[in-house]
This record gives sequence, C-alpha cells and structure tokens, in this order.
Amino acid sequence: MILPITQYGNPVLRVRCKRVKEVTDEIRTLAESMIETMIDANGVGLAAPQVAIELRIAVVDVSHDPECISYLRVNGEDTDLAEIMPLVFINPDLEAHGEKELREEGCLSIEDITANVKRATEVKGTFELLDGRVLEIETDGLLARAIQHEVDHLNGILFVDRLSAAAKLSVRGKLKRLGQ
Ligand code: NI
Repeated sequence: MILPITQYGNPVLRVRCKRVKEVTDEIRTLAESMIETMIDANGVGLAAPQVAIELRIAVVDVSHDPECISYLRVNGEDTDLAEIMPLVFINPDLEAHGEKELREEGCLSIEDITANVKRATEVKGTFELLDGRVLEIETDGLLARAIQHEVDHLNGILFVDRLSAAAKLSVRGKLKRLGQ
C-alpha cells in the first residue's frame, strides 16, 4: 500500500525512533508498504518516521545504478548489490568512516530542496533483517550515503540540519515556506 509521506514541519520527523523488539506481521506489512511508497516516489530510501511510524526501520534501494558503489561486503564477503536490494533494515548500528565528501542530497519529506551535504564516504554497520538475520554491511558510494541519511531520520535528524552555514542560509526561505 502506498502511504502518505510526512512533510517537513511534521513533529514525527523530529522523534528519536524506538527499537523494533519483534518482527510481527504488522512490521512485515509496514516494510512492504515502505518499499512501495519509496518506489512510487522515485526515492532511493525511506525511513519509518516518513510514514509517521516511530520505529527504527528503513528501506534503501540504489540498484538502479550498480556503479554507485565501489565495494560491498556482507558479513565479510564481497556481494553483488542486487543481492541485498531493496534492503529493509531494522535497529541499525552504524559506524561512518573514511574521508568526508560533499554531495547533493534531497529528501522525500522536504520537497523541492536539494543541497550539498558533507558525509563520510564509507560505512560499516550491523542491520537486522525481517527474516531475523543480522548482516554486517560495509560499503561506500551512494549506498553509504543513503544509509547515513536514513539512519539520521531514525534519530530525528534531517539532511538540512547538516548543511554548512552558507548552504543553510540559501535554503532558509524555502524551508520557512514548507514548515517552520
Ligand atoms: Ni530523507
């Protein structure tokens, strides 16, 4: 089911989401709906607060561009991107490392604004899956960026919070019109 996407100014986007204690049928249905909603909106990621759910669950799919990463290791093994996409992850434990890089980002909850965000180029983290497996994922490129963006959502952080002072100034007017 395609769900409405919460928009900038909605307090649910500022909540620190709770851990998922158990994967129930409700959680599985939610994950399916989140994937459908992300695809319908042409996004590469979506976090639960963006569909008004305060739980640590998010989806990412960057499989449209297999060249968008230079490596992907799952539990220490080199893995094809297509094998884990779309990735639904629960209760992520993330470590960002490597160089910092400025890249343009947008967000389905902040219409019509894109801006350069500085983030680490690589991530390593553990992610629980719907089937109970726990994967350790190491990657870079767009997938590393998308995962960091979604994990931020689970902590009530939006990409516009991470802009340089100058970039913040340039989007201030638009943000005001959107929310507050
Ligand atoms: Ni977003």
